[in-house]
Amino acid sequence: MTSTSVDQGIQRHIPIIGDINTKSSLAYRATRGAVGVVNGLQMALGEAYINGLEIPDPALKAIFHTSLSALFKNFPALLAPYEWVLHETENVAEGANDLMKVHYDRPQAMLNRMLGNWDVIYPKYSMGLWEKGAADLEQSQMQMIDDLIEKLDIQDGDNILDFGCGWGCIPNYVMSKFPNVRFTGVNLSHEQCDYMRHKMQDPKSYLGSGRFTLVEGDINEVEFEEPFDKILSVGVFCHVGNLTHAFRKVASILKPGGKFFLHIITVRTPNNVSSVYTHKYIFPHGRYWSFDTPPSINKDLKTIKRWYMNGINYHKTMAAWLQNFDDSYEEIKDLDYGIDFEKFRRIWRFYLIWLCTSFATCDGEINGNGQFLMVHA
Ligand SMILES: C[S@@+](CC[C@H](N)C(=O)[O-])C[C@H]1O[C@@H](n2cnc3c(N)ncnc32)[C@H](O)[C@@H]1O
Repeated sequence: MTSTSVDQGIQRHIPIIGDINTKSSLAYRATRGAVGVVNGLQMALGEAYINGLEIPDPALKAIFHTSLSALFKNFPALLAPYEWVLHETENVAEGANDLMKVHYDRPQAMLNRMLGNWDVIYPKYSMGLWEKGAADLEQSQMQMIDDLIEKLDIQDGDNILDFGCGWGCIPNYVMSKFPNVRFTGVNLSHEQCDYMRHKMQDPKSYLGSGRFTLVEGDINEVEFEEPFDKILSVGVFCHVGNLTHAFRKVASILKPGGKFFLHIITVRTPNNVSSVYTHKYIFPHGRYWSFDTPPSINKDLKTIKRWYMNGINYHKTMAAWLQNFDDSYEEIKDLDYGIDFEKFRRIWRFYLIWLCTSFATCDGEINGNGQFLMVHA
């Protein structure tokens, strides 16, 4: 595929008026105008909520459910709030330091409590697998990593890179199963790296087994001398704006015959999506790639298998996070958020309810997660 056709694939969107193949500037401008209206309504509701609008959760969920179902099914172009959502950006990840401040370096006592923090399963900020009968959040995360181990075909002795490793949950769990696997974890979040540095001193943790190397750094900049047998990245590429460059980088550090496992939030719509609310308050520059986009970028890596994971799995995961967030009120209310806790709480509740509901719309068949197994092209 040429780079022009890749560009066209990424920029493809359904105009609000006219046929999908309509590339007329009038249709495009009309679509962008309608997007402006959706953006305005979304922000008005979000900011009214932040500022104290009393609206019961079921009513908020009903508003999200009805509007998102219609948008996903009929007008997905209206879910691309900025033109950059439709294109690849200049850097692999834009505004990474802002993202850390706004999101990942928030008080860890709050994040760890929300995500769950157990003996082997450390906080894991990505979809759990519920469809195989998991009884709770911890089991759902274990079952998701078991599924990854199988799909990536992890073998004892593999040297593995985890791009955007969070709190080291996946390395810790995989190393608990394979005594000779080695892991390198990359993460830009200083706070999350502190969590892992602490665990690396703990003989009970597999991160403390001498088989784990931590690199605190930005995906845009990190370099490695030795290539890896396997590379994985779970829940991180929503922060990557340039898949072409990212895949080139991954290919350059993947052994011949090696495998890359990419797990992302994805949408089964022709265009990528995002939201003005999450861009401003939650994930600056975040976007959710169309399920067809990663396989269309096949210059350095090619997709040999892909799986669509039904959104209900993420709906249940986020419902558990929201419950934990609410239940921990007394424990987390006095931490330092840089803003009044009540305002912070409302910003996060709107985000959690929004995303939790969005994954349940259309029976989880449009907004879910995608997994892509890739090898050298
Ligand atoms: C949603 S979390 C997923 C973490 C982990 N993979 C998991 O499944 O729990 C995304 C992770 O990517 C990291 N991250 C985001 N942008 C990054 C960047 N530019 N460089 C390095 N790490 C980044 C965040 O700090 C966070 O740990």
